[in-house]
Amino acid sequence: MAGPSIIENQTTMAMRWHGDCLELLDQRLLPGEECWVKAVRASEVAGCIADMVVRGAPAIGIAAAYGVALAARYAGGGDWQAEIKQGIRELAASRPTAVNLFWALERMEQTLHACHSLAEAAERLETEAIRIHREDIEANYTMAGHALEAMCPEQPIGVLTHCNTGALATGGYGTALGVIRRLHREQLLERVYADETRPWLQGSRLTAWELARDHIPVTLNADGAAASIMAAGKVKWVVVGADRITANGDVANKIGTYSLAVLARHHKVGFMVVAPSSTVDMALARGADIPIEERDATEVREVGGRQLAPADVQVFNPVFDVTPASLIDVIVTEKGVVHNPNITGMEALFG
Ligand code: MRU
Repeated sequence: MAGPSIIENQTTMAMRWHGDCLELLDQRLLPGEECWVKAVRASEVAGCIADMVVRGAPAIGIAAAYGVALAARYAGGGDWQAEIKQGIRELAASRPTAVNLFWALERMEQTLHACHSLAEAAERLETEAIRIHREDIEANYTMAGHALEAMCPEQPIGVLTHCNTGALATGGYGTALGVIRRLHREQLLERVYADETRPWLQGSRLTAWELARDHIPVTLNADGAAASIMAAGKVKWVVVGADRITANGDVANKIGTYSLAVLARHHKVGFMVVAPSSTVDMALARGADIPIEERDATEVREVGGRQLAPADVQVFNPVFDVTPASLIDVIVTEKGVVHNPNITGMEALFG
C-alpha cells in the first residue's frame, strides 16, 4: 500500500505504522529518552494507551484504530469477527474520557461489519486506520487556518497553553499547538507560555520538547504562575485542546483547564479551544455527563519515582476537568468555528 505522504512528512510523530506492527514513541520517557515500543496485538495497544505510552485524545483514537487493524491481521481462521470485536472491547476499556477513542473504534467496527472474509477485513481495516490518521493531520492544518482568522492578530502575540496538544497528542502537527505553529510561521507569535501541567507534566516534558525542536520561542511556567502571566499582560489568548466537547459546548480537557478559563475571563484574555470534530460528542447534553478519569495516587505523590508527599496521604487525582461553555470565547474545529458556544451554535455546525 502506498504510504500517505502527509503522515510520513511529519517531523515529530507519536506513532509509526509498519503494516505488521505499530511503534509508539514512549511518552513516559520523554524528554530524557526517545524509545519506541512495538505492539503487534490489540491488547498491547490497549495497554500502551492505559499506561500513557501514547496519550492525547486524537492520538489514542488513531492508535486504537491501528490496534483493530492488528487484531484483524493476526486473527486466527476461526471466528475472526468475534476475535476482532474482542480487540475492540479491550481498546475501548483503556481510557474513558477522550471520545476520539470511541469515535475511531466505531468507525473501525462499521468497516468490519461490511467485510465478508478475514482477508478483506485485514485489508480494509488497515486502510481505514491510515485514513483516520491522515484525516486527523489534515484537520489540524485546517483548524490552524480557522483559528488565525478567529484571532486576527495584527502583531505578534503571546499565548498560553496547557498540557500537550502537539504532534505527540495527535496524528501530527497538533491542535492548539498546531495553531501556535501556524502563528509562528506567520511571524505572529511573540512567545508561548507552557504550563508545566501537574501532575503528569505534559507541558514541561512534551510541549517544551516539541516546541524547542522546532525553534518556537517557549517559556515554561509552573501552573500557578498563569494568573501572574495574564495580569502582566503577557498573553492575548489561552489556546487549549479538548478530550470531549458536549452538545452545549462544555469542554473536558486536562485538569487545570477550567481554572485557566476562569483566570482568562477575569483578565479579559481570549479563551480558545481547538479540537477536531472527532472530539465532539453531540450525544451528551452537558459536561457533567462526561466520565472523568481518575488515575493512581502515585502520579501526585511521586515524580520520577521520587516521593514528594507522605506515602499514605489521601490524594484526589482527576486527570480532566470540565470548562463550562460560558467561559469559552471560541471553539475551533476543521468544520468551522463556534463563537460563544451554546447548544444553538453547536447544533448549527454539528447537527
Ligand atoms: O491525559 P492526556 O495526556 O491524554 O491528556 C491530554 C489532554 O488533555 C489534551 O489536552 C487533549 O487530549 C487534547 S490533545 C490534542
